[in-house]
Amino acid sequence: MSNIIGLFEVFIAFIFVLVFQCFLLCKKSLGGTFLKSWPFLGMLPGMLFNIPCFFDWIVEVHEANDMTFAFKGPWFSGTDKLFTVDPRNISHMLSSNFSKSKGPEFKKIFDILGDGIVTADMELWEDLRKSGHSLFHHQNFLKLSVSSTTSKLNDDLVPFLDKAAEENNVIDLQDVFQRFMFDTASILMTGYDPMSLSTEIPGYEFGEAADFAEEAIFYRHLKPVILWRLQNLIGVGIERKIRTASEIFNSMFSMIISSRRKEEISRGEKEPAINAVTYYMNVDTTKYKLLKPGNDTFIRDVVLSLLIAGRDTTSSALTWFFWLLSKHPQVLTKIRHEINTNFDPTDLETLVYLHAALFESMRLYPPVPFNHKSPSKSDVLPSGHKVEADSKIVICIYALGRMRSVWGEDASEFKPERWISENGGLKREPSSKFLVFNAGPRTCLGKHLALLQMKMVSVEIIQNYNFKVVEGQKIEPVPSIILRMKNGIKVTVSKNI
Ligand code: HEM
Repeated sequence: MSNIIGLFEVFIAFIFVLVFQCFLLCKKSLGGTFLKSWPFLGMLPGMLFNIPCFFDWIVEVHEANDMTFAFKGPWFSGTDKLFTVDPRNISHMLSSNFSKSKGPEFKKIFDILGDGIVTADMELWEDLRKSGHSLFHHQNFLKLSVSSTTSKLNDDLVPFLDKAAEENNVIDLQDVFQRFMFDTASILMTGYDPMSLSTEIPGYEFGEAADFAEEAIFYRHLKPVILWRLQNLIGVGIERKIRTASEIFNSMFSMIISSRRKEEISRGEKEPAINAVTYYMNVDTTKYKLLKPGNDTFIRDVVLSLLIAGRDTTSSALTWFFWLLSKHPQVLTKIRHEINTNFDPTDLETLVYLHAALFESMRLYPPVPFNHKSPSKSDVLPSGHKVEADSKIVICIYALGRMRSVWGEDASEFKPERWISENGGLKREPSSKFLVFNAGPRTCLGKHLALLQMKMVSVEIIQNYNFKVVEGQKIEPVPSIILRMKNGIKVTVSKNI
């Protein structure tokens, strides 16, 4: 066995040396927007060459190829894909011709999430979707989402920012938002407060594990399944990090689930506390036949997906939003004015301009930059492209938000005004154009929760603090399935008196 692995590794090394030589010889054609297909290696060299600026490059490629192009991977590697951001195709695949399956490949690539809602298909997905919908609309769950965000703001984020302002500390805003969202999401989903924003605790394992896993999953899309599975088996490269992440998630969930099970035994006839773990431990299996409340692995899978969906997306959105505000002070001034003149703390809906600015920020920096689909049978897309059953289709939400043919010549500019209608209200855009929260039956279940939390955090910060971005930093997204900044964003804080 070790001989075979050794030979395989040599083979892979040879391929990468070859690819590298290609870079040196053919920089111009590799960097181009019309991808060259090489014998055996397909378009992989061009893709790898552009990894350091992946997101900018993928926008250009879509723009130059009329929003749809077929990517050819190395021969027999199973990595061919159709990339499309054509709104007609999006609407066809995600809404009018919706199929309950994301395709067999998706579940393999996202295996760390097990049987959670993001990876589930068919009847299991239906049961998770309906039960999730009922949880997200439960009065007590809604109340908990407001109370946990309020208390985390007052007890942790405000003292943390006050201290940073007093001591003139440089803080990484991305890290701060990730910790804040991890704590609030964890209270809501598990009933456990990890206190990761507490000033006494320097690092937190869960966040690092999730970040690494999300990067590793990005690279899985470019590799043949056999290669990343082998790397995972022998624990090398970025795949080793995914294994470590899985161990961290399992140990955290085993601790939480066992303590919630003990509470379940002692609570007797009392109502269960409302969080996703206790909800799924008591879920009605006469209604949702495929759910398994007594199975700890099932609870782990379902709640882990919700926890990751809650932490990573919203913290990404907030991070890019505050960076854009630092570059567009006139937008910050307008939001401040709106808060000072038109703010009813019990009704965040009145903050139309803030809402517009958040949408505009997510159009340019969508927290989930990709979506995937595999047709269950062969089909012809509205753009005229033929797709086979189980073939892979990638929708790059990041590129969609920057298409001039979709958003106009000023597509790359940050202009919240484009979201304001003539009567001063919020302008609606079809989800096939603004796909940030997905479209059709698999639309994000946490959209309203996320917007509520983002507005609460934004109002608190914009009213009371000023951030100054430390000069000389390169702000760029890291290739990952969540749009994170590669090196975070360092800022200093001052109080807004
Ligand atoms: C700015 C914040 C958020 C954004 C941009 C966002 C975006 C998305 C996107 C693009 C999807 C589709 C993923 C796919 O099918 O591959 C999705 C699904 C989902 N999101 Fe969100 N999300 C956000 C916040 C949240 C929050 C806070 C929660 C709740 C904890 C949440 C829960 C979910 C769930 C449960 C699904 C799966 C829906 C299904 O497959 O039926 N999201 N979200």
